[in-house]
Amino acid sequence: MIAEIIAESPAVHAARIEALYDVTFGPGHFAKTAERLREHNRSLPDLNRLALAHDGSVVGVVRMWPVLVEHGGQALFVGPVAVHPNHRGRKLGLELCRLALDVAREKGWSGAIIIGAPAYFAPLGFVPVSPRQLVFPGPQDMKRVMTLSFNGAANAYRGRIIAHRV
Ligand SMILES: CC(C)(COP(=O)(O)OP(=O)(O)OC[C@H]1O[C@@H](n2cnc3c(N)ncnc32)[C@H](O)[C@@H]1OP(=O)(O)O)[C@@H](O)C(=O)NCCC(=O)NCCS
Repeated sequence: MIAEIIAESPAVHAARIEALYDVTFGPGHFAKTAERLREHNRSLPDLNRLALAHDGSVVGVVRMWPVLVEHGGQALFVGPVAVHPNHRGRKLGLELCRLALDVAREKGWSGAIIIGAPAYFAPLGFVPVSPRQLVFPGPQDMKRVMTLSFNGAANAYRGRIIAHRV
């Protein structure tokens, strides 16, 4: 059972989030190209969303990272999305993303970029990019890259993506 869904307070939750990522992704996690957009960057705790169990453990998480798209300006890079194996089957990951994206939209962000399974993220409105639309800081299977536009701007995202700490 989930006790509550809240924003991240890094001093309280950061270690518990890392513990969940260790369970869900394992050690290969930091080798991915997506991680190049997160290292030396800082996620946005007021947008990040966590699901807490009654014992206070983090059983679901999504983080949101500021990035800069060469043609398109500031955008959010979403992820990793993770749900503890004991809490899967109720689309909790989608619920966390939906809540985080709603806040981002209200705060005026133009849109979001995500790497993941299109079948899983399509219900949130994410659409796959065209093969050469975006350039990541490393090898990337572009069939797993999707964007979501809050105001039409994400349709214009083109070129290199870099971390953009705010
Ligand atoms: C991906 C993840 C967050 C989904 O957990 P969840 O929100 O509890 O999702 P559910 O188990 O309720 O699955 C919801 C639906 O998505 C589908 N789904 C789940 N993971 C999927 C994946 N990787 N690819 C495609 N479909 C997926 C399920 O089959 C299910 O489909 P259905 O509604 O037709 O039955 C969880 O499996 C996880 O933490 N995985 C490891 C980390 C990861 O791969 N994160 C995503 C990339 S950032």
